[in-house]
Amino acid sequence: MTSQIDLRELRNAFGTFMTGVTVVTTHEADGTPRGFTANSFTSVSLDPPMLSICIGKSADSIDVFNSAQGFAINILSEKQIETSSLFASKRHDKFDIATWQSGPAGHPVLDAVCAWFDCTLEQRIDAGDHVILIGRVEGFDYNDQTGLGYVRGGYVTLGLEQAAVSAAGRDARVVVGALVDCNGSLLLRPNPDTNKLQLVASGLGQQRGSISRLKAILDELQIGAVIKSLYAVFENEEKDQHFIFYRAIADHEDADNSFYAPHEIPWDRLEDEAMITMLRRYLDESHDQRYGVYFGNQDSGIIQHNEDNGDDH
Ligand SMILES: Cc1cc2nc3c(=O)[nH]c(=O)nc-3n(C[C@H](O)[C@H](O)[C@H](O)COP(=O)(O)O)c2cc1C
Repeated sequence: MTSQIDLRELRNAFGTFMTGVTVVTTHEADGTPRGFTANSFTSVSLDPPMLSICIGKSADSIDVFNSAQGFAINILSEKQIETSSLFASKRHDKFDIATWQSGPAGHPVLDAVCAWFDCTLEQRIDAGDHVILIGRVEGFDYNDQTGLGYVRGGYVTLGLEQAAVSAAGRDARVVVGALVDCNGSLLLRPNPDTNKLQLVASGLGQQRGSISRLKAILDELQIGAVIKSLYAVFENEEKDQHFIFYRAIADHEDADNSFYAPHEIPWDRLEDEAMITMLRRYLDESHDQRYGVYFGNQDSGIIQHNEDNGDDH
């Protein structure tokens, strides 16, 4: 392909457009369900009811979607980051792990989604390295859950962040931080006042923490860090402080060697108990990469995994 355009830059520019996240499903001729994560969903027409989605020609399921007579779009809720990752993978057991049933036009509809649209194929358009599928909506449903967002390669959980915004509105102190993981090692940096180790966070000083300040701190570290998902939201009621922690992945370690492999973490140098509990949970969850989100206070709360209602903690 001859082009003067820097494709990586173009991808980054496209990535500034915030979208929701969907899982597109269909089935093979023998009924085997197939599906992939897609954020290229667009509503197209109300009357007749039509929508579109783009599938990359390099997807394993391209041949199936190229011959399918229809498909379903599942709009993921903000609790379904793991479902998004599952369907963005090349795993063959996606539909054994996800729970689903057939929609009115016969395509897989996933449980616990915000909305779904089951479609017959209206048109298939060849478009560069993608194929545009236009579907005619034969049946749909929706509920009042908040959808999962996606921007610049990371997930956005708006409903959960609104809770933090309302805490900020009450003048509570908000700390927004990240557990930054680089190949299993975690970023811990010394607090210059106490020399204790702490996670990267905005809002520790005078300024209120925010995700944009956190992103600026991560950018300054030049470790190629990308925020992946929400990890913990908790409050310290006595101090009227709110903490929001995200899970982030770094490309490479920093020049100051601030990354610690799990067996190197000096637990007695960590700043406080809530951080220690959070780090221990992270290391536990890293074994099978199934990360939950903690909601509560500094002592107790619930850990919410994907679509379930949470285990008591
Ligand atoms: C948030 C997100 C959005 C994506 N959007 C699309 C998309 O719109 N079209 C597409 O073809 N792939 C998209 N992908 C990548 C596919 O999900 C991924 O290539 C997947 O492996 C395809 O499944 P398959 O190879 O089993 O067919 C997206 C991935 C993520 C994480």
